Amino acid sequence: MKLKYFSHSSFQVTTDSGLILLIDPFLDDNPTSPARSKDINADYIILTHGHADHIGDAFKIAERCNPLFICVNELAHYCSDKGFRTHAMHIGGAHLFDFGRLKFTIAHHGSMTPDNTYAGEPAGVLLTIDRKTVYHTGDTALFYDMKLIGEMTPIDYMLLPIGDNFTMGIDDAVKAVELASPQVAIPIHYNTFPVIEVNPAEFVDKVVASGSKAQMMSYGEEIVL
Ligand code: NI
Ligand code: MN
Repeated sequence: MKLKYFSHSSFQVTTDSGLILLIDPFLDDNPTSPARSKDINADYIILTHGHADHIGDAFKIAERCNPLFICVNELAHYCSDKGFRTHAMHIGGAHLFDFGRLKFTIAHHGSMTPDNTYAGEPAGVLLTIDRKTVYHTGDTALFYDMKLIGEMTPIDYMLLPIGDNFTMGIDDAVKAVELASPQVAIPIHYNTFPVIEVNPAEFVDKVVASGSKAQMMSYGEEIVL
């Protein structure tokens, strides 16, 4: 599988079989994204919650590509009301798709769409694709059950927010890595806006000092997992 980072919480996953998944595709109004929605395709769009910086350009892309939306039930209803294909799930549930296994986890945050529609609970997502597991925590505070999540599904890559204010800051995120115990931690949800400006190198240094591995992905960078 290949993992491409567009900045903020936005990723593109390309499976070995060529399927394209987008997670929280916030591109056109994202000042740090090198990609524009018109250039992005998707077979699946996974939304962690309904906030504008996560729904992003999902509907614009969907109008062109007709992907399957995967999200918690309430947000899936919102997407299907707009005419898109959806697969509704909920927290704690996993499902085997043709790209691999997807499980939603808890996240401590809010969730409402840009037009103020209730969007259910916010979520994190565990993706097991091509024998690797990626845990995208969504927007969340630190919570102790991250330890349980890592025990039940050993994590290769943990994508977690460090930008503070709306989510974990650096020190809480370092603790989250200790709890979930991934092979590699990748910081997200920082420096998109002034209020979430932090130094990601500080996060990487602190994770490494605690005995784990972390790496920054630059905006537009794609890595092979
Ligand atoms: Ni949010
Ligand atoms: Mn956010």
